[in-house]
Amino acid sequence: MQHDKVLIVDFGSQYTQLIARRVRELNIYSEIHPFNKIPTNVDDYKAVILSGSPMSVRSDEAFHPDLKGIRGEKPMLAVCYGAQYLAHFSGGEVAESNTREYGRANLSFVQENEPFLTGISVGSQVWMSHSDTIKKLPTNGKLLASTHDVENAAYKIEGETTYAIQFHPEVYHSTDGKQLLENFLVQISNVTPDWTPNAFVEETVDALKAQLGNDKVVLGLSGGVDSSVAAMLLHKAIGKNLYCIFVNNGLLRKNEFTSVLEQYEGMGLNVKGVDASARFLDALAGLSDPEKKRKAIGRVFIEVFDDEAHQIQDVTWLAQGTIYPDVIESVSATGGPSATIKSHHNVGGLPDFMKLKIVEPLKALFKDEVRRVGASMGMDKNLLGRHPFPGPGLAIRILGDITAEKVRILQEVDAVFIDGLRSWDLYDKVWQAGAILLPVNSVGVMGDERTYEKVVALRAVESTDGMTADWVDLPYKFLQKVSNDIINKVKGVNRVVYDISSKPPATIEWE
Ligand code: XMP
Repeated sequence: MQHDKVLIVDFGSQYTQLIARRVRELNIYSEIHPFNKIPTNVDDYKAVILSGSPMSVRSDEAFHPDLKGIRGEKPMLAVCYGAQYLAHFSGGEVAESNTREYGRANLSFVQENEPFLTGISVGSQVWMSHSDTIKKLPTNGKLLASTHDVENAAYKIEGETTYAIQFHPEVYHSTDGKQLLENFLVQISNVTPDWTPNAFVEETVDALKAQLGNDKVVLGLSGGVDSSVAAMLLHKAIGKNLYCIFVNNGLLRKNEFTSVLEQYEGMGLNVKGVDASARFLDALAGLSDPEKKRKAIGRVFIEVFDDEAHQIQDVTWLAQGTIYPDVIESVSATGGPSATIKSHHNVGGLPDFMKLKIVEPLKALFKDEVRRVGASMGMDKNLLGRHPFPGPGLAIRILGDITAEKVRILQEVDAVFIDGLRSWDLYDKVWQAGAILLPVNSVGVMGDERTYEKVVALRAVESTDGMTADWVDLPYKFLQKVSNDIINKVKGVNRVVYDISSKPPATIEWE
Protein backbone atom coordinates (compact mmCIF):
# COMPACT_ATOMS: atom_id res chain seq x y z
CA MET A 1 0.00 0.00 0.00
CA GLN A 2 1.31 3.43 -0.96
CA HIS A 3 1.31 6.19 1.63
CA ASP A 4 1.22 9.88 0.97
CA LYS A 5 4.66 11.41 1.41
CA VAL A 6 5.73 14.86 2.53
CA LEU A 7 8.94 16.45 1.32
CA ILE A 8 10.89 18.61 3.77
CA VAL A 9 13.39 20.87 2.08
CA ASP A 10 16.28 21.46 4.47
CA PHE A 11 18.15 24.76 4.67
CA GLY A 12 20.32 23.51 7.55
CA SER A 13 18.16 24.51 10.50
CA GLN A 14 18.81 22.86 13.85
CA TYR A 15 15.08 22.10 13.90
CA THR A 16 14.67 20.35 10.54
CA GLN A 17 14.64 16.86 12.04
CA LEU A 18 11.99 18.00 14.46
CA ILE A 19 9.74 18.98 11.58
CA ALA A 20 10.00 15.46 10.22
CA ARG A 21 9.24 13.99 13.62
CA ARG A 22 6.20 16.16 14.22
CA VAL A 23 4.86 15.27 10.79
CA ARG A 24 5.42 11.59 11.48
CA GLU A 25 3.69 11.91 14.84
CA LEU A 26 0.64 12.69 12.75
CA ASN A 27 1.11 9.25 11.11
CA ILE A 28 2.34 10.89 7.93
CA TYR A 29 5.57 9.79 6.30
CA SER A 30 8.05 12.59 5.64
CA GLU A 31 11.51 12.77 4.14
CA ILE A 32 14.20 15.41 4.53
CA HIS A 33 16.26 16.43 1.51
CA PRO A 34 18.83 19.25 1.32
CA PHE A 35 17.69 22.34 -0.60
CA ASN A 36 20.38 21.76 -3.21
CA LYS A 37 19.45 18.10 -3.75
CA ILE A 38 15.70 18.20 -4.06
CA PRO A 39 14.57 14.88 -5.59
CA THR A 40 13.59 15.07 -9.23
CA ASN A 41 10.41 13.06 -8.67
CA VAL A 42 8.60 15.83 -6.77
CA ASP A 43 5.31 14.45 -8.06
CA ASP A 44 5.70 11.61 -5.55
CA TYR A 45 5.17 14.06 -2.71
CA LYS A 46 1.78 15.33 -1.74
CA ALA A 47 3.00 18.43 0.13
CA VAL A 48 6.24 20.31 0.73
CA ILE A 49 7.63 22.08 3.79
CA LEU A 50 10.55 24.51 3.60
CA SER A 51 12.67 24.55 6.77
CA GLY A 52 14.40 27.29 8.69
CA SER A 53 18.11 28.05 8.36
CA PRO A 54 21.04 29.69 10.11
CA MET A 55 21.53 31.63 6.82
CA SER A 56 20.06 35.09 6.12
CA VAL A 57 18.12 35.60 2.88
CA ARG A 58 19.90 38.97 2.67
CA SER A 59 23.30 37.32 2.50
CA ASP A 60 25.15 37.02 -0.82
CA GLU A 61 25.36 33.31 -0.11
CA ALA A 62 21.62 32.92 0.59
CA PHE A 63 20.40 29.41 -0.22
CA HIS A 64 18.30 29.24 -3.41
CA PRO A 65 16.20 26.10 -3.80
CA ASP A 66 14.90 25.09 -7.19
CA LEU A 67 11.14 25.07 -6.54
CA LYS A 68 10.18 24.04 -10.08
CA GLY A 69 7.17 21.73 -9.92
CA ILE A 70 6.55 22.76 -6.32
CA ARG A 71 5.78 26.46 -5.98
CA GLY A 72 2.20 27.10 -7.06
CA GLU A 73 1.74 23.47 -8.07
CA LYS A 74 1.76 21.70 -4.74
CA PRO A 75 0.68 22.71 -1.26
CA MET A 76 3.70 24.31 0.35
CA LEU A 77 4.38 25.49 3.89
CA ALA A 78 7.38 27.76 4.35
CA VAL A 79 8.81 28.01 7.87
CA CYS A 80 11.11 30.81 9.12
CA TYR A 81 13.89 31.05 6.48
CA GLY A 82 11.38 29.57 4.02
CA ALA A 83 8.89 32.33 4.84
CA GLN A 84 11.56 34.99 4.52
CA TYR A 85 12.83 33.45 1.31
CA LEU A 86 9.39 33.67 -0.32
CA ALA A 87 8.98 37.25 0.86
CA HIS A 88 12.42 38.53 -0.07
CA PHE A 89 12.59 37.07 -3.57
CA SER A 90 8.94 37.46 -4.57
CA GLY A 91 8.16 41.12 -4.20
CA GLY A 92 8.29 41.55 -0.43
CA GLU A 93 11.01 42.80 1.89
CA VAL A 94 13.13 41.30 4.65
CA ALA A 95 15.29 43.42 6.94
CA GLU A 96 17.39 42.98 10.01
CA SER A 97 15.16 42.98 13.04
CA ASN A 98 15.67 45.63 15.67
CA THR A 99 13.83 43.79 18.42
CA ARG A 100 14.86 40.49 19.88
CA GLU A 101 12.83 37.77 18.18
CA TYR A 102 13.86 34.67 20.01
CA GLY A 103 11.82 32.52 22.36
CA ARG A 104 8.19 32.49 23.35
CA ALA A 105 5.65 34.91 21.90
CA ASN A 106 1.88 34.96 21.72
CA LEU A 107 -0.32 35.55 18.74
CA SER A 108 -2.05 38.92 18.97
CA PHE A 109 -3.95 38.66 15.67
CA VAL A 110 -5.37 35.56 13.99
CA GLN A 111 -7.31 35.72 10.72
CA GLU A 112 -10.79 34.32 11.18
CA ASN A 113 -12.33 31.62 8.98
CA GLU A 114 -8.95 30.54 7.70
CA PRO A 115 -8.65 26.72 7.44
CA PHE A 116 -4.88 26.93 8.00
CA LEU A 117 -5.56 28.39 11.45
CA THR A 118 -8.43 26.17 12.59
CA GLY A 119 -8.19 25.69 16.36
CA ILE A 120 -5.61 28.44 16.74
CA SER A 121 -6.57 31.64 18.47
CA VAL A 122 -5.28 34.91 19.82
CA GLY A 123 -2.99 34.20 22.78
CA SER A 124 -1.67 30.93 21.32
CA GLN A 125 2.02 30.54 22.20
CA VAL A 126 4.56 30.27 19.38
CA TRP A 127 8.34 29.85 19.33
CA MET A 128 10.41 32.43 17.47
CA SER A 129 14.07 32.05 16.51
CA HIS A 130 15.24 34.57 13.95
CA SER A 131 17.21 37.77 13.56
CA ASP A 132 15.74 38.97 10.24
CA THR A 133 12.13 40.01 9.98
CA ILE A 134 9.61 40.24 7.15
CA LYS A 135 8.85 43.96 6.61
CA LYS A 136 6.62 43.55 3.61
CA LEU A 137 4.69 40.53 2.36
CA PRO A 138 5.43 39.14 -1.10
CA THR A 139 3.18 39.80 -4.09
CA ASN A 140 -0.33 38.44 -3.41
CA GLY A 141 0.59 37.85 0.22
CA LYS A 142 -2.26 37.98 2.69
CA LEU A 143 -1.55 38.44 6.39
CA LEU A 144 -2.86 35.60 8.56
CA ALA A 145 -1.36 36.12 12.02
CA SER A 146 0.80 38.50 14.06
CA THR A 147 2.48 38.66 17.45
CA HIS A 148 3.19 41.81 19.41
CA ASP A 149 6.72 42.15 17.94
CA VAL A 150 6.31 40.35 14.64
CA GLU A 151 3.56 41.72 12.47
CA ASN A 152 4.04 39.27 9.61
CA ALA A 153 4.08 36.09 11.68
CA ALA A 154 1.97 34.09 9.19
CA TYR A 155 0.73 34.73 5.66
CA LYS A 156 -0.57 32.95 2.61
CA ILE A 157 -0.14 33.64 -1.06
CA GLU A 158 -3.45 34.10 -2.77
CA GLY A 159 -3.94 32.09 -5.92
CA GLU A 160 -1.58 29.36 -4.63
CA THR A 161 -1.77 26.78 -1.86
CA THR A 162 1.25 28.40 -0.27
CA TYR A 163 1.45 29.23 3.44
CA ALA A 164 4.29 30.78 5.38
CA ILE A 165 5.05 31.19 9.06
CA GLN A 166 7.82 33.03 10.80
CA PHE A 167 7.65 30.90 13.97
CA HIS A 168 8.52 27.25 14.43
CA PRO A 169 5.54 24.87 14.64
CA GLU A 170 7.89 21.91 15.12
CA VAL A 171 9.18 23.10 18.50
CA TYR A 172 7.09 21.96 21.48
CA HIS A 173 6.98 25.51 22.83
CA SER A 174 4.72 26.35 19.89
CA THR A 175 1.79 24.87 21.74
CA ASP A 176 -0.48 24.59 18.71
CA GLY A 177 2.29 23.67 16.30
CA LYS A 178 1.06 20.14 15.73
CA GLN A 179 -2.46 21.42 15.06
CA LEU A 180 -1.06 23.85 12.52
CA LEU A 181 0.86 21.09 10.74
CA GLU A 182 -2.25 18.93 10.76
CA ASN A 183 -4.32 21.78 9.33
CA PHE A 184 -1.82 22.23 6.55
CA LEU A 185 -1.22 18.56 5.78
CA VAL A 186 -4.55 16.88 6.38
CA GLN A 187 -7.15 19.61 5.84
CA ILE A 188 -5.43 21.68 3.17
CA SER A 189 -3.14 19.21 1.38
CA ASN A 190 -5.46 16.17 1.73
CA VAL A 191 -2.68 13.92 2.97
CA THR A 192 -4.03 10.65 4.42
CA PRO A 193 -2.54 10.03 7.89
CA ASP A 194 -2.20 6.25 7.67
CA TRP A 195 1.51 5.69 8.24
CA THR A 196 1.26 3.75 11.54
CA PRO A 197 3.77 1.39 13.21
CA ASN A 198 1.56 -1.58 12.32
CA ALA A 199 1.42 -0.54 8.69
CA PHE A 200 5.19 -0.06 8.73
CA VAL A 201 5.74 -3.58 10.09
CA GLU A 202 3.43 -5.20 7.57
CA GLU A 203 4.90 -3.40 4.59
CA THR A 204 8.50 -3.80 5.68
CA VAL A 205 8.08 -7.51 6.25
CA ASP A 206 6.52 -7.90 2.79
CA ALA A 207 9.28 -5.84 1.20
CA LEU A 208 11.98 -7.85 2.99
CA LYS A 209 10.41 -11.10 1.82
CA ALA A 210 10.43 -9.87 -1.75
CA GLN A 211 13.97 -8.50 -1.49
CA LEU A 212 15.55 -11.48 0.26
CA GLY A 213 13.61 -14.51 -0.99
CA ASN A 214 15.49 -17.58 0.26
CA ASP A 215 18.77 -15.74 0.84
CA LYS A 216 20.61 -15.92 4.12
CA VAL A 217 21.25 -12.81 6.18
CA VAL A 218 23.71 -12.22 8.99
CA LEU A 219 23.16 -9.55 11.62
CA GLY A 220 25.23 -8.39 14.58
CA LEU A 221 23.07 -7.95 17.67
CA SER A 222 24.34 -5.52 20.27
CA GLY A 223 21.66 -5.69 22.94
CA GLY A 224 20.52 -2.23 21.84
CA VAL A 225 17.14 -1.19 20.54
CA ASP A 226 18.02 -0.70 16.87
CA SER A 227 19.69 -4.02 16.16
CA SER A 228 17.03 -5.86 18.17
CA VAL A 229 14.11 -4.30 16.28
CA ALA A 230 15.88 -4.82 12.94
CA ALA A 231 16.36 -8.47 13.88
CA MET A 232 12.72 -8.91 14.81
CA LEU A 233 11.53 -7.47 11.48
CA LEU A 234 13.88 -9.72 9.56
CA HIS A 235 12.89 -12.69 11.68
CA LYS A 236 9.26 -12.10 10.77
CA ALA A 237 10.21 -11.94 7.10
CA ILE A 238 12.72 -14.77 6.71
CA GLY A 239 12.70 -16.76 10.00
CA LYS A 240 15.64 -19.13 10.34
CA ASN A 241 17.45 -17.65 7.36
CA LEU A 242 18.36 -14.78 9.66
CA TYR A 243 21.56 -15.60 11.52
CA CYS A 244 22.19 -13.32 14.47
CA ILE A 245 25.56 -13.02 16.15
CA PHE A 246 25.86 -11.48 19.59
CA VAL A 247 29.49 -10.87 20.54
CA ASN A 248 30.56 -10.51 24.14
CA ASN A 249 33.50 -8.12 24.03
CA GLY A 250 33.90 -8.41 27.79
CA LEU A 251 33.00 -4.75 28.13
CA LEU A 252 29.27 -5.12 28.50
CA ARG A 253 27.32 -4.36 31.66
CA LYS A 254 27.32 -6.92 34.48
CA ASN A 255 25.49 -10.15 33.45
CA GLU A 256 24.32 -8.47 30.27
CA PHE A 257 25.65 -11.06 27.87
CA THR A 258 23.71 -13.97 29.38
CA SER A 259 20.55 -12.07 30.20
CA VAL A 260 20.23 -10.43 26.80
CA LEU A 261 21.11 -13.65 25.01
CA GLU A 262 18.32 -15.42 26.87
CA GLN A 263 15.94 -12.65 25.94
CA TYR A 264 16.85 -12.99 22.25
CA GLU A 265 16.36 -16.73 22.37
CA GLY A 266 12.99 -16.16 24.03
CA MET A 267 12.02 -13.99 21.06
CA GLY A 268 12.62 -16.97 18.79
CA LEU A 269 15.68 -15.47 17.12
CA ASN A 270 18.27 -17.71 15.57
CA VAL A 271 21.12 -16.24 17.63
CA LYS A 272 24.64 -17.35 18.43
CA GLY A 273 26.39 -15.87 21.44
CA VAL A 274 30.15 -15.63 21.02
CA ASP A 275 32.22 -14.94 24.09
CA ALA A 276 35.35 -13.20 22.81
CA SER A 277 36.15 -11.29 26.01
CA ALA A 278 39.68 -12.56 26.25
CA ARG A 279 40.47 -11.60 22.66
CA PHE A 280 39.27 -8.03 23.25
CA LEU A 281 41.12 -7.67 26.55
CA ASP A 282 44.32 -8.90 24.90
CA ALA A 283 43.97 -6.38 22.10
CA LEU A 284 43.38 -3.59 24.60
CA ALA A 285 46.29 -4.42 26.89
CA GLY A 286 48.44 -1.34 27.50
CA LEU A 287 46.30 1.00 25.38
CA SER A 288 45.27 4.27 27.07
CA ASP A 289 44.41 6.56 24.19
CA PRO A 290 40.60 6.61 23.65
CA GLU A 291 40.82 6.52 19.87
CA LYS A 292 43.33 3.63 19.92
CA LYS A 293 41.00 1.75 22.24
CA ARG A 294 38.05 2.35 19.93
CA LYS A 295 40.05 1.23 16.91
CA ALA A 296 41.30 -1.91 18.62
CA ILE A 297 37.76 -2.85 19.61
CA GLY A 298 36.44 -2.11 16.14
CA ARG A 299 39.16 -4.24 14.57
CA VAL A 300 38.67 -7.24 16.85
CA PHE A 301 34.90 -7.01 16.44
CA ILE A 302 35.24 -7.24 12.68
CA GLU A 303 37.63 -10.18 12.99
CA VAL A 304 35.33 -12.07 15.35
CA PHE A 305 32.22 -11.24 13.34
CA ASP A 306 33.89 -12.22 10.12
CA ASP A 307 35.04 -15.57 11.53
CA GLU A 308 31.49 -16.29 12.60
CA ALA A 309 29.89 -15.09 9.38
CA HIS A 310 32.20 -17.36 7.37
CA GLN A 311 30.79 -20.33 9.23
CA ILE A 312 27.35 -19.65 7.79
CA GLN A 313 27.21 -21.29 4.40
CA ASP A 314 26.18 -19.13 1.46
CA VAL A 315 25.29 -16.05 3.42
CA THR A 316 24.85 -13.12 1.04
CA TRP A 317 23.43 -10.25 3.08
CA LEU A 318 24.53 -8.22 6.07
CA ALA A 319 21.72 -6.54 7.99
CA GLN A 320 22.37 -3.32 9.85
CA GLY A 321 20.32 -1.31 12.32
CA THR A 322 21.07 2.02 10.64
CA ILE A 323 18.39 4.59 11.46
CA TYR A 324 17.22 7.73 9.69
CA PRO A 325 19.38 10.31 11.54
CA ASP A 326 22.52 8.42 10.37
CA VAL A 327 21.27 8.66 6.80
CA ILE A 328 20.34 12.34 6.79
CA GLU A 329 23.45 13.40 8.61
CA SER A 330 25.52 12.15 5.73
CA VAL A 331 23.64 14.26 3.16
CA SER A 332 22.68 17.31 5.22
CA ALA A 333 22.46 20.77 3.70
CA THR A 334 25.44 22.01 5.61
CA GLY A 335 27.60 18.99 4.82
CA GLY A 336 27.07 16.84 7.89
CA PRO A 337 28.49 17.20 11.36
CA SER A 338 30.80 20.17 11.73
CA ALA A 339 33.75 18.25 13.10
CA THR A 340 34.71 14.70 13.94
CA ILE A 341 34.99 14.89 17.68
CA LYS A 342 35.26 11.19 18.33
CA SER A 343 35.78 8.49 15.73
CA HIS A 344 32.59 6.92 16.90
CA HIS A 345 29.41 5.28 16.01
CA ASN A 346 28.67 2.34 13.93
CA VAL A 347 29.56 3.91 10.63
CA GLY A 348 32.26 2.90 8.22
CA GLY A 349 31.16 -0.65 9.11
CA LEU A 350 31.62 -3.11 6.32
CA PRO A 351 35.10 -4.48 5.79
CA ASP A 352 35.81 -4.89 2.10
CA PHE A 353 36.57 -8.55 2.37
CA MET A 354 33.09 -9.45 3.57
CA LYS A 355 31.55 -8.42 0.26
CA LEU A 356 28.00 -8.80 1.49
CA LYS A 357 25.00 -6.88 0.27
CA ILE A 358 23.49 -4.56 2.85
CA VAL A 359 19.91 -4.59 4.09
CA GLU A 360 18.79 -1.81 6.47
CA PRO A 361 15.15 -2.22 7.47
CA LEU A 362 15.11 0.79 9.84
CA LYS A 363 16.76 3.37 7.68
CA ALA A 364 13.58 5.46 7.37
CA LEU A 365 12.89 5.63 11.11
CA PHE A 366 13.78 7.91 13.98
CA LYS A 367 14.73 6.33 17.30
CA ASP A 368 11.35 6.89 18.93
CA GLU A 369 9.69 5.34 15.88
CA VAL A 370 11.97 2.30 16.16
CA ARG A 371 10.67 1.87 19.70
CA ARG A 372 7.06 2.19 18.57
CA VAL A 373 7.61 -0.34 15.79
CA GLY A 374 9.20 -2.71 18.34
CA ALA A 375 6.24 -2.23 20.68
CA SER A 376 3.79 -2.95 17.88
CA MET A 377 5.56 -6.30 17.35
CA GLY A 378 5.08 -7.07 21.05
CA MET A 379 8.75 -6.71 22.01
CA ASP A 380 9.64 -6.43 25.67
CA LYS A 381 9.33 -2.94 27.15
CA ASN A 382 12.60 -3.28 29.03
CA LEU A 383 14.48 -4.12 25.89
CA LEU A 384 12.92 -1.22 23.97
CA GLY A 385 13.42 1.27 26.79
CA ARG A 386 17.11 0.53 27.35
CA HIS A 387 19.47 3.44 27.59
CA PRO A 388 21.88 3.85 24.67
CA PHE A 389 25.16 2.10 25.35
CA PRO A 390 28.31 2.79 23.32
CA GLY A 391 29.70 0.06 21.06
CA PRO A 392 33.10 0.06 22.82
CA GLY A 393 31.18 -0.31 26.08
CA LEU A 394 32.96 0.07 29.38
CA ALA A 395 36.31 0.49 27.58
CA ILE A 396 35.59 4.20 27.12
CA ARG A 397 34.31 4.50 30.69
CA ILE A 398 37.54 3.13 32.15
CA LEU A 399 39.79 6.10 31.67
CA GLY A 400 43.29 5.08 30.68
CA ASP A 401 44.35 1.48 30.27
CA ILE A 402 42.06 -1.49 30.78
CA THR A 403 42.51 -4.56 32.92
CA ALA A 404 40.13 -7.38 33.85
CA GLU A 405 40.10 -6.11 37.45
CA LYS A 406 39.08 -2.60 36.37
CA VAL A 407 36.31 -4.05 34.23
CA ARG A 408 35.07 -6.03 37.22
CA ILE A 409 35.06 -2.95 39.47
CA LEU A 410 33.22 -0.82 36.96
CA GLN A 411 30.66 -3.52 36.20
CA GLU A 412 29.84 -3.74 39.90
CA VAL A 413 29.60 0.03 40.33
CA ASP A 414 27.50 0.42 37.19
CA ALA A 415 25.13 -2.34 38.33
CA VAL A 416 24.53 -0.65 41.70
CA PHE A 417 23.81 2.65 39.93
CA ILE A 418 21.53 1.24 37.23
CA ASP A 419 19.65 -1.08 39.61
CA GLY A 420 19.21 1.91 41.92
CA LEU A 421 17.76 4.01 39.11
CA ARG A 422 15.33 1.23 38.34
CA SER A 423 14.21 0.67 41.89
CA TRP A 424 13.77 4.40 42.51
CA ASP A 425 11.71 4.63 39.32
CA LEU A 426 14.21 7.00 37.78
CA TYR A 427 15.52 4.82 34.94
CA ASP A 428 12.94 5.89 32.38
CA LYS A 429 13.31 9.55 33.29
CA VAL A 430 16.96 9.46 32.30
CA TRP A 431 18.12 9.26 28.69
CA GLN A 432 21.45 7.65 29.44
CA ALA A 433 23.30 6.76 32.64
CA GLY A 434 26.49 5.01 33.58
CA ALA A 435 29.55 5.04 35.76
CA ILE A 436 33.09 6.04 34.91
CA LEU A 437 36.21 4.64 36.53
CA LEU A 438 38.74 7.42 37.03
CA PRO A 439 42.46 6.79 36.72
CA VAL A 440 43.21 8.21 40.17
CA ASN A 441 43.28 6.85 43.67
CA SER A 442 42.09 8.86 46.62
CA VAL A 443 42.68 8.58 50.31
CA GLY A 444 39.82 7.40 52.46
CA VAL A 445 39.23 5.93 55.85
CA MET A 446 37.24 2.76 56.58
CA GLY A 447 37.03 1.72 60.21
CA ASP A 448 40.42 2.66 61.60
CA GLU A 449 42.17 1.92 58.36
CA ARG A 450 43.46 4.39 55.85
CA THR A 451 42.48 3.38 52.30
CA TYR A 452 43.92 4.45 48.99
CA GLU A 453 41.46 3.34 46.33
CA LYS A 454 39.65 4.19 43.15
CA VAL A 455 37.31 7.12 42.47
CA VAL A 456 34.21 6.61 40.32
CA ALA A 457 32.04 9.23 38.67
CA LEU A 458 28.35 8.76 38.03
CA ARG A 459 26.79 10.33 34.94
CA ALA A 460 23.10 10.66 34.08
CA VAL A 461 21.89 12.87 31.25
CA GLU A 462 18.73 13.93 29.53
CA SER A 463 18.84 14.33 25.79
CA THR A 464 16.80 13.63 22.69
CA ASP A 465 19.47 12.42 20.31
CA GLY A 466 22.79 12.56 22.16
CA MET A 467 23.91 15.63 20.17
CA THR A 468 23.26 17.89 23.15
CA ALA A 469 22.64 16.78 26.71
CA ASP A 470 22.10 18.08 30.18
CA TRP A 471 22.95 16.42 33.48
CA VAL A 472 19.99 15.16 35.43
CA ASP A 473 19.09 16.69 38.74
CA LEU A 474 18.85 13.33 40.56
CA PRO A 475 17.50 13.49 44.13
CA TYR A 476 20.21 13.94 46.78
CA LYS A 477 18.69 11.09 48.79
CA PHE A 478 19.13 8.79 45.83
CA LEU A 479 22.72 9.88 45.23
CA GLN A 480 23.46 9.42 48.91
CA LYS A 481 22.08 5.89 48.90
CA VAL A 482 23.85 4.88 45.71
CA SER A 483 27.13 6.35 46.88
CA ASN A 484 26.91 4.44 50.18
CA ASP A 485 26.01 1.22 48.41
CA ILE A 486 28.87 1.54 45.96
CA ILE A 487 31.48 2.23 48.60
CA ASN A 488 30.17 -0.49 50.89
CA LYS A 489 29.68 -3.16 48.25
CA VAL A 490 32.36 -2.62 45.67
CA LYS A 491 35.81 -3.54 46.81
CA GLY A 492 38.45 -1.12 45.55
CA VAL A 493 36.34 2.06 45.47
CA ASN A 494 36.34 4.63 48.26
CA ARG A 495 34.92 7.76 46.63
CA VAL A 496 31.97 8.61 44.36
CA VAL A 497 31.43 11.88 42.51
CA TYR A 498 28.54 13.06 40.32
CA ASP A 499 29.21 14.65 36.93
CA ILE A 500 27.37 17.98 36.53
CA SER A 501 28.60 18.98 33.06
CA SER A 502 26.34 19.51 30.11
CA LYS A 503 27.09 18.78 26.45
CA PRO A 504 28.39 21.02 24.99
CA PRO A 505 30.96 21.86 26.20
CA ALA A 506 31.53 18.43 27.77
CA THR A 507 30.52 15.19 26.01
CA ILE A 508 28.35 12.44 27.44
CA GLU A 509 31.16 9.91 27.64
CA TRP A 510 34.43 10.93 29.25
CA GLU A 511 36.52 9.48 26.44
P1 XMP B 1 29.41 11.71 23.30
O1 XMP B 1 30.38 11.17 24.32
O2 XMP B 1 30.02 11.94 21.95
O3 XMP B 1 28.32 10.57 23.10
O4 XMP B 1 28.68 12.93 23.81
C1 XMP B 1 27.13 10.74 22.38
C2 XMP B 1 26.42 9.40 22.33
O5 XMP B 1 27.20 8.50 21.56
C3 XMP B 1 27.59 7.38 22.34
N1 XMP B 1 28.97 7.04 21.98
C4 XMP B 1 29.30 6.00 21.21
N2 XMP B 1 28.55 5.04 20.61
N3 XMP B 1 30.52 4.05 19.74
C5 XMP B 1 29.18 4.06 19.89
O6 XMP B 1 28.51 3.16 19.36
C6 XMP B 1 31.35 4.98 20.31
O7 XMP B 1 32.57 4.93 20.16
C7 XMP B 1 30.69 6.00 21.08
N4 XMP B 1 31.17 7.07 21.79
C8 XMP B 1 30.08 7.70 22.32
C9 XMP B 1 27.45 7.82 23.77
O8 XMP B 1 27.27 6.71 24.64
C10 XMP B 1 26.26 8.74 23.70
O9 XMP B 1 25.05 8.02 23.68
